[in-house]
Amino acid sequence: VDLSALNTLGFAAQAERFVRVDKVEELPQLHSYLQAHPQPVLLLGGGSNLVLGEHIPGLVVQMAIQGWELLSEAEDEIIQLRVMAGESWHSSVEKSLQQGLYGLENLALIPGTVGAAPIQNIGAYGVELKDRVHSIQAFDRDTGDWCDLTPADCAFAYRESRFKSLEPGRYWIWAVTFTLSRRPCVDLSYQALAQACGSQSPTPWQVFEAVCRLRRAKLPDPKVLGNVGSFFKNPLVSASQYERLLRQFPDLVAYAEPSGGYKLAAGWLIDACGWKGKRREQVGVHTEQALVLVHYGQARREELLALAAEIQKDVLMRFGVELEQEPLNYPAY
Ligand code: EPU
Repeated sequence: VDLSALNTLGFAAQAERFVRVDKVEELPQLHSYLQAHPQPVLLLGGGSNLVLGEHIPGLVVQMAIQGWELLSEAEDEIIQLRVMAGESWHSSVEKSLQQGLYGLENLALIPGTVGAAPIQNIGAYGVELKDRVHSIQAFDRDTGDWCDLTPADCAFAYRESRFKSLEPGRYWIWAVTFTLSRRPCVDLSYQALAQACGSQSPTPWQVFEAVCRLRRAKLPDPKVLGNVGSFFKNPLVSASQYERLLRQFPDLVAYAEPSGGYKLAAGWLIDACGWKGKRREQVGVHTEQALVLVHYGQARREELLALAAEIQKDVLMRFGVELEQEPLNYPAY
């Protein structure tokens, strides 16, 4: 099976075997099959945070379970909404607002599925998935049993979780349960968002629309141009390193962290090295956002990773800061 249409970079990738899961009951069956036939497994959501190689060994499992369930009483102000893993993230954000359930508006237009969202703890415009998670429903491949994980169990951090780094592959997430509010209240802590809203007290819908506008202006639509959003994480540095850099580069962009350190805008660092809009054959750096690498078509991941390595080297030489790749390589090499 060719996975070109199932990864947003649009890389050609041949899966040895492929199966689509539509019902939660299929997971224990799949688990038994894999115990009898051990092989590598890649659980695929929207393929929007993966850098695929040409040959994918073993089994690719497309998580396609659909569905929605309100778990609280109609009159409750704080409600729990359960969304199945195969639902589109953006459609779910939009649908929650349509139903008068607020809290996900800052996370509009992020590509991918609901089930993939916890893996990298998606975040944008001042809100992270972890801020809205009540629990995660999963099948635990180690115990062969169902489990409910609390946010604390998930070890969420900036673009990180237990599912991404500590125990990749252990849990098959089949649903995410959110804590949302029927009372409209918005998070405008991200300055660029507050400005884009243009009103002192915008509604959640106005926030949703402002986020969509901001994203459309900077981030390429993967249907038009292959990409996985930010290719690197924004690096965290100590206050003293930040102050040293700021003396040398007065227009450096950074955000103060609760830990006392600073998160540097990696897009700014890459841009300052002159990379924005640069193209190398069939891969390049996006013209509107230097943190986004793009695939123009027909390239292999080696070309993209070579470009990424050049960028990392330049940023390290100029700023003494290491950029960590954000999407996962699969296979890892
Ligand atoms: N900047 C530049 N040049 C560039 C790009 C950015 O100077 O080429 C500057 C901007 O002017 C701005 C600052 O860097 O002052 C930050 O840029 P932006 O608001 O676009 O956000 P970001 O830090 O680059 C992060 C997330 C995005 C998320 C936005 C909004 C990471 C790795 N990326 O980007 O997430 O949408 O903030 O919250 O944290 C993703 O993870 O795929 C993603 C798109």
